[in-house]
Amino acid sequence: MAIKHSLEVDKEFVQNKKAETQFSSSNSIVFCENSKEDNNHSITSNEMLHSEYTDSTNSNYENSIKNITTPQVSTQNTKKDEISLEKSTDTIEALSKVDMIPLSNSTVDSTSLIQKNNTNTSQLTGYEFFNSILKSSKLFLAPMVDQSELAWRILSRRYGAQVCFTPMFHAKMFSNKENRGYFNEMWQTNEQDRPLIVQFCANDPEHFLEAAKLVEDHADAVDINLGCPQHIAKRGKYGAFLMDEWDLIYKIVNTASKNLKIPVTAKIRVYKELEKTIEYAKMLERAGAKILTVHGRLAEQKGHKTGLVDWSKIKAIKESVNIPVISNGGILYREDILSCLKETKADGVMVAETSLYNPIIFDSSLNADESISSSNSLCINGLVKNFDIANEYLDIIKGGVETKISYVRSHLFKIFKPSLPNYPDLRSELAASKSIEDFSNVVDKLKLAMQPEIESSKFDPYNIEIDEFGYKIIPHWYCQPSIRKEYNKVTSSGDKPLGRNVVNAE
Ligand SMILES: Cc1cc2nc3c(=O)[nH]c(=O)nc-3n(C[C@H](O)[C@H](O)[C@H](O)COP(=O)(O)O)c2cc1C
Repeated sequence: MAIKHSLEVDKEFVQNKKAETQFSSSNSIVFCENSKEDNNHSITSNEMLHSEYTDSTNSNYENSIKNITTPQVSTQNTKKDEISLEKSTDTIEALSKVDMIPLSNSTVDSTSLIQKNNTNTSQLTGYEFFNSILKSSKLFLAPMVDQSELAWRILSRRYGAQVCFTPMFHAKMFSNKENRGYFNEMWQTNEQDRPLIVQFCANDPEHFLEAAKLVEDHADAVDINLGCPQHIAKRGKYGAFLMDEWDLIYKIVNTASKNLKIPVTAKIRVYKELEKTIEYAKMLERAGAKILTVHGRLAEQKGHKTGLVDWSKIKAIKESVNIPVISNGGILYREDILSCLKETKADGVMVAETSLYNPIIFDSSLNADESISSSNSLCINGLVKNFDIANEYLDIIKGGVETKISYVRSHLFKIFKPSLPNYPDLRSELAASKSIEDFSNVVDKLKLAMQPEIESSKFDPYNIEIDEFGYKIIPHWYCQPSIRKEYNKVTSSGDKPLGRNVVNAE
């Protein structure tokens, strides 16, 4: 079985992206596995690529990112003290052994302190790691270049994300000893930012290991990106372009898993052939991966060919390996998380694109079928007003979490996507904003502009209508997934619109 939930390039998005790119202080261009951006930008010729997803040539953006740490010394027990291990503690050191040290790189504010792992968890089995360190979490925020930055992770955790991935970092550049610029620009965490999995792209075991060593004291695992299908990854030979190089993949994972003090995980796509997909997953398990995140699309499913996510392959992998499997792809509504868990039997669900449009996607999702309401008063039955969540995100940044202006702009364009066509002047203002204050002003103006419509609306959040294709009809002032409109058509076989219908995956 497969379910189709995906997103498309549309004119409005192209307009928005043009505006974003035009005004971007960082010239940062995002490329992502199945995102719209894929179709809308040409890759710059800069050879020093920040990552598979991003070609960022900036050196002078306004809000340069530092290693943000909470300037607070605490000797209190942390969450780790509460962890109960299923396995005898002989195998690992007591997890309560954490101490507080300054981060070791030169760019860190010397007054800032952050917890340092003082524990070797690399020898835990996949499930020991999953149950003890990740606390059997089910809700994962995806790695997203330029988008799963610290401020967004903080917001996502508030609304239910239990484990967060960093954006993908380029291992070789991250570990470059001669030039620490990329590392300093990219690496950002704080004391509360756990559990955290740091993702890298790499095609060399040493690069991956060296990069991972730099974060092993401050993260719970490192992940190798084996799913990026973009042109930029082809040039760099990363991500999904390693899918034919099993020996190399084995070495990358194996070398790191033998030499790090935290586990290695892998994020993969699937092959057309089920058997090959299963063998691939087993090979990664043998190599030492402790968790597999499976994006249930083929490498060629990107851009306008994104299409269906094949949950049946994820289920088959789950049945074939002895390590936790996280299902990724195609989540539009919080109920989908439950359906995905039920159908794939996966240990958790990772959400990427929808979480950018609706950051409360995780909120109460595990109770969604019982209509248990959120503990947060801003959320009503899975809905939150876009200006409320935008303000909360901006407040996090105002509270001291430095964030690139281009990331903020990109987040706000997505949060407000359904509303912006109604307010072209404010859209232009958003595109031209160059500071957090500018963004706040635009959000205030958008809120004010929406008030008359909101007040006269008869919309009932507890009685949401569904359109003919299975999508919820939600007013524009609420955060909502972005729908690929090409699926709102009858299929070539003529019988059934794809919409949200579950279909047989051939
Ligand atoms: C803006 C954006 C950035 C992404 N960056 C990454 C990345 O850094 N690493 C990665 O493995 N996948 C990346 N992806 C792919 C997602 O993690 C995910 O695998 C894919 O979007 C499918 O999940 P979804 O259907 O929930 O969006 C990115 C996706 C988006 C939308």
